[in-house]
Amino acid sequence: MKKLMPLARRLKPLVSLLALDFARRPRRSVNYLRACLAAARRPTYVRNAPVSLNIEPTTACNLKCTMCDRTYSSDLNLGSLSFDDFKEILSQFHYLLGSHHIQTGLLMTGLGEPFLNKNLLRMIKYAKNQGYPYVHTITNGTVLDATKTQGIIESGLDHISVSMDGATKETFESIRVGAQFEKVVSSIKDLAIKRTTRNKPFIDLNITIQDQNRNELEYVVDLAFEMGVDRVSARVLNAKFAHIEATSSFGLTDEAIASAMQYARAKNLQFRYADDDSDPCVYPWIWPYVTWNGYITPCCYNSDPRNFNFGNLLETSFEDIWNSSIYRDFRRDLVSDTPPEICRRCPKCPSSYTSARNISANNELKATR
Ligand SMILES: C[S@@+](CC[C@H](N)C(=O)[O-])C[C@H]1O[C@@H](n2cnc3c(N)ncnc32)[C@H](O)[C@@H]1O
Ligand code: SF4
Ligand code: SF4
Repeated sequence: MKKLMPLARRLKPLVSLLALDFARRPRRSVNYLRACLAAARRPTYVRNAPVSLNIEPTTACNLKCTMCDRTYSSDLNLGSLSFDDFKEILSQFHYLLGSHHIQTGLLMTGLGEPFLNKNLLRMIKYAKNQGYPYVHTITNGTVLDATKTQGIIESGLDHISVSMDGATKETFESIRVGAQFEKVVSSIKDLAIKRTTRNKPFIDLNITIQDQNRNELEYVVDLAFEMGVDRVSARVLNAKFAHIEATSSFGLTDEAIASAMQYARAKNLQFRYADDDSDPCVYPWIWPYVTWNGYITPCCYNSDPRNFNFGNLLETSFEDIWNSSIYRDFRRDLVSDTPPEICRRCPKCPSSYTSARNISANNELKATR
């Protein structure tokens, strides 16, 4: 009982927020609870609408990062989302999206650099004006300038993640090929300084852990502190693709993560670690991916609709797609012993768990300062 008291105290604010949200937006809240249930039970037919939506602003990119699938593809589905198509897509989800108090919502990114779509900030502003509670984008930070920085602040964007795969110029530029370390650092510093509302947008430094940067995690915390951002988010590499598996490893030791977390806390910074193989995939139940030309695909790792898609939102309504036979078959297969071919090498796919964990267990390197 004594042990449960601190937990109850910690959960109290969350419970109060949920109750408040339920009173204000009962329809959204019921959907949210249904989505939680679907994520836990993963049924073939879903009664909930998605609580999050990933829209790909563009597949164009100015970098050739060494761990990114895009870099190795010679046949890209190149294009950018138009503002009119964005409005059409969004109109089908308006009432569906997450709760005001829970960080679910609209993620504007994909296999490309979002800020290369000249309408990105207009789209974000539109979504915010429509009442979308939480809009997030992930960027390589290379094309930001004073005008875009001001535009970000004025758009109402809630959260921006900047990919910072190294704390030194040498490491960063060896992974993020084509990027200039100093430019990204100074653009994000500028954004952090110019924010007029505290933590708005919330700024994250994303580090995808791989061989070249695994010993720089705590230096990235130092960098984040110096840049005035709010959080460091470390994630493991998704080694779904052969060229990555051959050269890189998965994750960090628990000690390395705990040490970085403690180090961040001492600097009053948030720290998050996402281990892709720790949770089974829930995307087809709660979180669809929409390509720049309107196709729904299972997730950002399967974002080329020419390989696989569930239908096109500019031709068929989302309602007809979400529980169509192709979506239902996909959900059924994903939790079976014979998952869809396109998921078989993904660490989030149930059949891949064992191999991913074995490699992780051999991963003895520790982050050092
Ligand atoms: C695909 S990028 C798109 C946004 C933008 N172009 C960028 O680099 O930030 C989104 C995030 O995925 C990360 N990423 C790229 N390849 C990855 C991989 N193989 N496994 C895990 N994350 C990856 C990137 O570092 C980035 O933080
Ligand atoms: S900037 Fe983003 S999309 Fe472009 S190559 Fe790098 S990780 Fe991939
Ligand atoms: S299991 Fe399939 S749908 Fe889920 S994240 Fe992996 S590739 Fe995507």
